[in-house]
This record gives sequence, C-alpha cells and structure tokens, in this order.
Amino acid sequence: MSTPRSDAFVFFGATGDLAYKKIFPALQAMLRQGELDMPIIGIARADWNLDKLRERARDSLQKNGGVDEEAFAKLSAQLQYVNGDYADAATYQKLKQALGTSKRPLHYLAIPPSMFGTVVRQLAEADCAKDARVIVEKPFGTSLATARALNATLHEVFPEEAIFRIDHYLGKEAVQNLMYFRFANTFLEPIWNRNYVQSVQITMAEDFGVQGRGAFYEEAGAIRDVVQNHLLQVTAMLAMDAPVGHDAESIRAEKLRLFHGMRPLDPSDVVRGQFRGYRDEDGVAADSQVETFAALRLHIDTWRWAGVPFYIRTGKCLPITATEILVDLKLPPLAIFDQTEALQSNYFRFRLSPEVVIATSARVKRPGEGMQGESVELVARHHPQREKMPYERLLGDALRGDSALFTNDASVEAAWAVVDPVLGEAEPVQFYERGSWGPAAAGALIGDGESWHDPVAEEAAS
Ligand code: BG6
Repeated sequence: MSTPRSDAFVFFGATGDLAYKKIFPALQAMLRQGELDMPIIGIARADWNLDKLRERARDSLQKNGGVDEEAFAKLSAQLQYVNGDYADAATYQKLKQALGTSKRPLHYLAIPPSMFGTVVRQLAEADCAKDARVIVEKPFGTSLATARALNATLHEVFPEEAIFRIDHYLGKEAVQNLMYFRFANTFLEPIWNRNYVQSVQITMAEDFGVQGRGAFYEEAGAIRDVVQNHLLQVTAMLAMDAPVGHDAESIRAEKLRLFHGMRPLDPSDVVRGQFRGYRDEDGVAADSQVETFAALRLHIDTWRWAGVPFYIRTGKCLPITATEILVDLKLPPLAIFDQTEALQSNYFRFRLSPEVVIATSARVKRPGEGMQGESVELVARHHPQREKMPYERLLGDALRGDSALFTNDASVEAAWAVVDPVLGEAEPVQFYERGSWGPAAAGALIGDGESWHDPVAEEAAS
C-alpha cells in the first residue's frame, strides 16, 4: 500500500559502477516524467566534488541511452555531492545538512553489503533514518545465515515496511506480464498444474563473460548471482497460486508459500560449470572453483506441482543472450493417428528478454491424405523490449512506498534456504567451451525423453 512520498533521494556509492550503468539513467527518466522533484544527493568516499559527479552523470547517460538536455539540466541543478568515509560520523552531518528541510529521505545503498550495517547505524545516529526508507541492492547476503544476519542488522534501524530489497528482474515488463497472463486468462488455470504440465524449463543465457567483474564474481558465482534471486523469483511468479488481492502483501504471501514449497536443492540436482578462460580473468584465482554456469532440477512439493520438475539453467559465455521459459504440457494419447515421428507436445513459451514474447504451440494436421500433423506456434505478444527501465520503475515505486515488486525478509531467507545446500563446492565444476551450452552433464539432469530447450534468436515481430 502506498504511504507518503519520500522527499529526498540519497544514493550511497554515487561514483560506482551501478550508479553509472543504472542509477543515473533511471534518475534522468524519472526527472523527465516529473517524478523526482526533490533533492538528489550522491554520497561516496572518492574525494570528488559536485562538478565531477555531474560530469560522471553526463558520461553515464551518453553511454547508457543518451542525454536529454532538459532533464539533465534538472538533474544538475538538484544534484548534491557528499564526500566522506561511510564509517565517519562527519559524513552524516554533511548529509543532514544537504537534506535541508527534507523529512522523509529514501536512502539507496548501492554499496557492498559488508557496509550496510555501518551505514544504517550511522544514519540513525545522525537522525537521518526517522521516517526514511532504505533500498538495498542484491546480493542480499551470501547464504541463509548471512541473509538472516543482514535482515537483523537492517531491522535494528528500519522497520520491515521501510526496507526495499531490490531485484531488478521484478521490475521487468515481461516478468509482470507473466503474472498478468496467468491470472487474467480463464483457459490457463485449469491446466496449470501437475495433471497437465510435464516439466518447466527456465534458461537465462548470456553470450558474454564476467566483463571485468571477476573479483565480484569470485565471491558470487552463478547460483548466488542470478539463481537465488532473479530465477527463483521468476519461478515463483510462474508457479504461485493466485493472490487474494492485488496489494503487495497478498502477492508476497503467495510467493512466500511457494518458496516454502520448494525443496532445498540436493547436490545431485545440480551441475556446475566454468567456461574455459574464466581463470585468466582479472581478479579470478588460477584454481578457481567458482561456477559461471549452473543447471538445476528443482522440486516444488505443493498440491499443484508435486512431481513436476522445474529445470533452471544459467550461464556466461553461452551461444546467445536470452531468458526464456518453456512450460511443456503432457502429450495426449495420439495412437489414433498414423504419426511415426516423436511428437512435440503443446507448450507455453515466455521470452523475458531481450524481446518480450508469449507464445503457445498447437498441433494441426498437415494438408494431405494421411492423419499426420505438425506443431505451429501461436503468438500472443511479441515486441522488442522498449520498456520502462526496471530501475526507473522500482526506484519510483520505492519513493511512493509501494513494495509490491520488492522482496521481503521472509522470502529472501526462504529463497536462500533452497540454494544453501548447493553453494560453494557442493559439486565440482566442470569446464565448458565458450559459445557452447555448458557441460554435457547438464543434459543428464533432464528426464527421459526430454531435452533442454535452447533459446534461439527471435524472428522480428510481424
Ligand atoms: C545481474 C547480474 O543481477 O543481472 C549479472 O549480477 C547479470 O551477472 C544481470 O548479467 C542480468 O540482468 P539483465 O537485466 O541484463 O538480464
């Protein structure tokens, strides 16, 4: 539910990578929409000044979508810079001054989680936390135990309703459409269960490597980086029961029930891979065991899904950049037709990126005498992803206090509980070639008669 709007936007980590790639473009877009009429305060410990931050903002916009001069002029005028160490009380006195008459700031912690505790306690000491909200970036912890500790630290200062744990996947148009499509269509619900669904596959493939983030990646690996958060969130959207209302709490309650139904992963349900050459990246250990690829077989022990495998796969340096879900339906008995080849069952296909596609397949008879058929794909939605940027949407929601697209304490812990048993070196990594679909062992995770569905380049929308 929305509460009073925040009246200042404060971002820690103003000189960092995330601010450069995502936050400045989102701020410009919000200013263009008239959604950010308030002080914008960047904080960092970089010995910069305001002019340098403005320059950095311009450069960021040039590289990430372009500069809108009118909006940029507003950004420049509203922007302030506070320089200082996050552990030093003086930094927060400067922040307090910069906030002026603002009473309800939104603090965005775009900084390493190891600093969260220090920053929130200092905010409280300097009286900058009262009626404030806080956004925290992923990764939210590195395990179930550390996520719990992080929640406890944040709760020392902020009530749960003031904490916004960001997962930018939840701000994606396609992920929202997943929920809309499921619950706005009568035909889907009767078949969206173990009686009709054979299996579900979710593939998040990237055709690039770690892009200079070797040191970060060494601490993370694919399971922590994208499975615990983005891919389990997508799974929850796909598999949860219908919420009883459209408020944040109802949606989060259903997602939490679903997370609780997920069986913690067993090492035998996981294949970890590493692309050849990863160990030569800057910041990566010569004998690194960190996975850049993971394939998992997840079980959801609920009335709706018991027995239906959810296969999840992600990797760097795969043949394509695309995220796609395939929900395979069971085959009907086709013995009445003279079909000899293996049949493709009906499926639903949701492409989440780079395009947004919702499609389903149906079998139709081939023209001619024999009772033989073929699969055709019926496309319900197909558009290139020119959507509102996830960060723009999510920062705007946080300013309004709308937490529907953010993760709460219980869900984030429940998601960690699923992956906790397979973190680290639970299974040895297996090498794969760049540009391949990962180690061959991933194929063996899939049930008899099934295989991985590899996303391909999407044809242009008609
Ligand atoms: C981030 C991960 O959270 O998501 C990256 O840290 C990954 O490793 C990125 O590349 C993918 O996001 P998107 O929106 O580009 O699919």
